[in-house]
Amino acid sequence: MLDYVAALGGRAPPVGRGEAFTYLDLGCGDGFTIVLLAAIYPECRFVGVDLDPRHVERGRALAAAVSLSNVTLIEGDFADWRRFDLPQAHYVALHGVWAWISDATRAALVELLADRVAPGGFVYLGYNTLPGWAAAAPLRRFFLEWAQGSDAVANVAETLRKLREMKAQGAEYFVQNPVAAALLDDWAKNDPRYVAHEIFSPHWSPQAFDSVASDLARAGLDWVGSADLVKNFPQLALKPGLAALVAAEKDRRRAERLRDFAANTRFRRDLFAKPGAPLDMAEFEMRPWGLRVPVEEAAPTIPLPNGRLDVSGEPFRSIRRALGDGTKSIVELARLLGAPKQAVADAIQVLSLGWQVAPFARPTKGGAAPRAWRIATPVNRHLLDHPVEQGGFALFAAPPTGSALALPKPALEMLRKKEEAPKRRLAKWVELGLIAPA
Ligand SMILES: C[S@@+](CC[C@H](N)C(=O)[O-])C[C@H]1O[C@@H](n2cnc3c(N)ncnc32)[C@H](O)[C@@H]1O
Repeated sequence: MLDYVAALGGRAPPVGRGEAFTYLDLGCGDGFTIVLLAAIYPECRFVGVDLDPRHVERGRALAAAVSLSNVTLIEGDFADWRRFDLPQAHYVALHGVWAWISDATRAALVELLADRVAPGGFVYLGYNTLPGWAAAAPLRRFFLEWAQGSDAVANVAETLRKLREMKAQGAEYFVQNPVAAALLDDWAKNDPRYVAHEIFSPHWSPQAFDSVASDLARAGLDWVGSADLVKNFPQLALKPGLAALVAAEKDRRRAERLRDFAANTRFRRDLFAKPGAPLDMAEFEMRPWGLRVPVEEAAPTIPLPNGRLDVSGEPFRSIRRALGDGTKSIVELARLLGAPKQAVADAIQVLSLGWQVAPFARPTKGGAAPRAWRIATPVNRHLLDHPVEQGGFALFAAPPTGSALALPKPALEMLRKKEEAPKRRLAKWVELGLIAPA
């Protein structure tokens, strides 16, 4: 997916497709992401760094439980990175880190990135940003100061109760700052431990894109695009008048500043890159594209920030149908549809915004539902017994996609109890490497 975001920005991947790469996750938490990726790319090397010994312990236990030897978790502070013996990395991820650390730690990370990102390498950064978080800053202060008990989680619960009473009675702060009101509702629904973690972090400081881009420029990294795919298409992500204003601004950094004010952005997922090769269009057009869901279940509309986009007509329908029996490249799709490659590439870009059509790491063939089956890989067998859930979905490794597959809970139950699953779904799960014929 990162390679695809880079392609949208006109950049080649840091290593040839299918070649081994090194991936560094800085602030990897319990390492779940890199353990999953290590299972998906057994020929590649994954290294995580985190300060919290409990996180690192959990990650090491998970890697050991699923017998992975290509993932290493390092316990330590970014400030000490020179002591860690970090490899040069082709991909570096920092998710939920940049806006949670001190200026001194950010400066150490800039040095790390300057030194340890390979030429042409990518850095993914997901962080709280401005102006979206500005209206909520007083809310955080209120949480820090209202309840003073020794238990942070109980303090959160008490403060939430008080603020919700205020909001219910029509407190003007919430009336005049709907973003803060929505955030309070979000926090009320969330696990209070997560909320405590979000609020009580000592260095919480949302970072404006401009200052992030300046920091990363000092490490020799340029902005390439957004890992929120739709944000690479202002005409689909913003109201028409605002999209025109963003599109008219030729300086990319200034355009991003306009975009964040147009959308009141609260969280950014940016991809930066060291200088490297431009995209080879011929290679891009040979990359495999696939469907993550059975073709019969692929939705005819795509959610956008301001509504839904109808993709029920042509050429979208024919592309979905063609992907129903396995991945196809843009070249193959153009031949099958008798359409120009550019038209297919444009349609694929639109379909990818719905997460059903996605760039795959490896080609697949569609197949029939097996009569008898088993869960395909050790990591997925482990995740069936110890599910990692996110918003009602359980995460599994789907090796051909190069990424994870989020299964809704009823599907998880089907896998666990070996209940009758629709044949089309079994066939898709075989294609995605989740199950294999027994
Ligand atoms: C908000 S969590 C994000 C975890 C993970 N990347 C994710 O997205 O789920 C931030 C992580 O950064 C780690 N961290 C914070 N400051 C650090 C530092 N100075 N050195 C190393 N790790 C740090 C924390 O222990 C925590 O696990």
